[in-house]
Amino acid sequence: MDFSVTSLLCFGALLYAVVQLVRFVRADADFTLLWAAAVGNKPEKNLCGKVVWITGASSGIGEELAYQLASLGARLILSARREDELKRVKNCCLSHSILEEGDILVLPLDLLERGSHEAKMKIAIEYFGNIDILINNGGRSQRSLFLETSIEVYQALMDLNFLGTVSLTKQVLPHMTQRGTGSVVTISSVVGLVGAPLSTGYSASKHALQGFFNSLRTELTDYPGITISTVCPGPVQSQIVHNAFTEEVDRPMFSAGDQQHKMLTSRCVRLILVGIANRIKEMWIAHQPFLLFYYLWQYTPTWAWAITDLLGRKRVQNFKAGLDADSSYFMKPKTS
Ligand SMILES: NC(=O)c1ccc[n+]([C@@H]2O[C@H](COP(=O)([O-])OP(=O)(O)OC[C@H]3O[C@@H](n4cnc5c(N)ncnc54)[C@H](OP(=O)(O)O)[C@@H]3O)[C@@H](O)[C@H]2O)c1
Repeated sequence: MDFSVTSLLCFGALLYAVVQLVRFVRADADFTLLWAAAVGNKPEKNLCGKVVWITGASSGIGEELAYQLASLGARLILSARREDELKRVKNCCLSHSILEEGDILVLPLDLLERGSHEAKMKIAIEYFGNIDILINNGGRSQRSLFLETSIEVYQALMDLNFLGTVSLTKQVLPHMTQRGTGSVVTISSVVGLVGAPLSTGYSASKHALQGFFNSLRTELTDYPGITISTVCPGPVQSQIVHNAFTEEVDRPMFSAGDQQHKMLTSRCVRLILVGIANRIKEMWIAHQPFLLFYYLWQYTPTWAWAITDLLGRKRVQNFKAGLDADSSYFMKPKTS
């Protein structure tokens, strides 16, 4: 009798472990976010009618955020430098949603022109009266080895990704503290949590954002209605590699390589919206093996170093072979 109960328990534990392992292998986000996607608040209910300001809305993740938010009935402020691209995104939002012309404000903005951010905030408030959610998404990546990269590239990455984001947040947050409600959501990166070769400056700028927003969150504990979220995606399909900084500030990427192996932008954005609707503080969004990487760094950093070295070497090999740096980590780079 005892033997059969023990066997049953062991079998149950083994089955549980196998199920969890399969779930983990198939997962494309951390378990908190996936749990929220399954049983938490639905973006359809929580985000309808909200006023959402998206930076970097002219391309990639920001553009897709605009489409999905429009289809949920959120009113939008679309910002980036290229006004014509923002107008294109606005028209696409209008033709695929119930929103009307006046529900979307195109507000061109350069994150580097910090002196203009106060005036942009005034325009946004005069137009909609309030801002419920700021999504700090605009930014650029880097593909270059430290030894070959000029110091100006490091300055440019910090100016854009870190100071530009902090500057706009500084304009919007007082409005939220005054109302006692609002969300500031910042698109960081997996390299905001861990390091990666070819991205020393980009990783530093995203680490700076993580440190800044983690600290800011703790400063706002007297404002329970305000949520500070950081989103840490792994590789996602977008123009990020095409637009990346290289060894010199004005030198464009030679070739972005094939981006098809990366997570679909639509899936990444859906998970971000689930995270916003559920007020999740930090979101990890990536396919395997990247997701494993986040967990190793969080819980077993000693093992994580060994894997970081392995993947890092492969990343540099891919880059030198003219492929996307994040092309398959487990196969030899094909160059023809
Ligand atoms: N795709 C990925 O694999 C990935 C992974 C992790 C994190 N992220 C982060 O996700 C965010 C969005 O990137 P993405 O992948 O969607 O890349 P993307 O397609 O290159 O989009 C970047 C956006 O940032 C805007 N931007 C660039 N410089 C700007 C400036 N000076 N002022 C205002 N806006 C500026 C661009 O618009 P304009 O050129 O019109 O200004 C564009 O809309 C970035 O913060 C990136 O670091 C991306």
